[in-house]
Amino acid sequence: MTDIYSAIQVSDHVYWVGAIDWSIRDFHGYTTPHGSTYNAYLILADKITLIDTVKKPFMEEMLARIASVIDPAKIDYIVSNHSEQDHCGCLSQVVGRVQPSKVFASAAGVKNLGEILHNDYAIQAVRDGETLSLGNMELTFMETRMIHWPDSMFTFLAADGLLFSQDAFGMHLATFERFADELPADMLEYEAATYYANIVLPYSPVVLKALEKVGATGWAIRTIAPDHGPVWREDLGFILDRYKKWAEQKPANKAVVVYATMWHSTEMMAKAIAEALAQAGVRVKILSLNEVHRSEVIFELLEAGALIVGSSTLNNNMLPQMADVMTYIRGLKPANLAGAVFGSFGWSGESVKDLEAALKGMKVDVVAETVSVRHVPGPEALEKCHELGRTVASELAKRLSPK
Ligand code: FEO
Repeated sequence: MTDIYSAIQVSDHVYWVGAIDWSIRDFHGYTTPHGSTYNAYLILADKITLIDTVKKPFMEEMLARIASVIDPAKIDYIVSNHSEQDHCGCLSQVVGRVQPSKVFASAAGVKNLGEILHNDYAIQAVRDGETLSLGNMELTFMETRMIHWPDSMFTFLAADGLLFSQDAFGMHLATFERFADELPADMLEYEAATYYANIVLPYSPVVLKALEKVGATGWAIRTIAPDHGPVWREDLGFILDRYKKWAEQKPANKAVVVYATMWHSTEMMAKAIAEALAQAGVRVKILSLNEVHRSEVIFELLEAGALIVGSSTLNNNMLPQMADVMTYIRGLKPANLAGAVFGSFGWSGESVKDLEAALKGMKVDVVAETVSVRHVPGPEALEKCHELGRTVASELAKRLSPK
């Protein structure tokens, strides 16, 4: 193991010592077709410090990368910025191997780590704004509760202008390139947006406050080192500006038409609605849940203004793939969306009422009259679908026009 893996220097005193997971394809419901990395960082200060660890099966890879720089037994401190198990799952085993003199986490982190690891070693709580001397340099901690766990915090190493940002500003992307500037901008944009939509979106109001809080510190940040994906060392505005834009969730001139269909009637309705939207100048994305994963739906909603949902009725319910997506979207709390509902049925037609209730439950404004069709839509029903599309387009135009 030792000969395979190497650390990568990311700043004057910091090495990346994480692990690359080329195989993972699911993060609790979020599909990750391009794998991920679990980033841990080694600070070569007087007090040698490890920032975060990795998912349990990757511990040996991390220790081997550390061993390419120093004997892991020389680590004095370990800091846990966030207690989700992809970053702390092997913490107890690492503590057993390394025997650090101290382990640090936020107060909420100490509690969560206790409930997750049932540790028999002490973890010392650090406060928001507290500094920790590493001898010749120091760390400063900033609580970032609910980005995206209650115990999350950032850690700043002023000596290198380096912000350890745990999950924030990360992406699920397995690469050997360790720096964002070594990767194409469109890849970074897509992967960061997908990550934001599937992980960070519900905490957008907290993100805006955290961006302000970091700005108010006056920290001279030159590098951002997240817990997944590449390290940002050039053009930090690329990711900071996108986080601000995604967190604000301003409506965009885009409608996402999501449907689940049995015999293509609901699909015909989706296409009629989309045609009318497009003719009215709205950018449209049609997503068939017979083929598309829930992660793609929330990604498309990240910069949208309308969500239009349709389902056939099956056994007095919406189709199960639609129920899945509605549950997923509700949890991720997209904001400022106009909505509408459509669907075909054979004899009972409950899906549209359930979809209306689901949209209202997620605070999507239903702005058009629902279109419900028995069996296959004819010309009259398709005209109603066109009308639904035009109504949503008109509502979007109102929302986008300057007040
Ligand atoms: Fe990457 Fe919230 O763990």
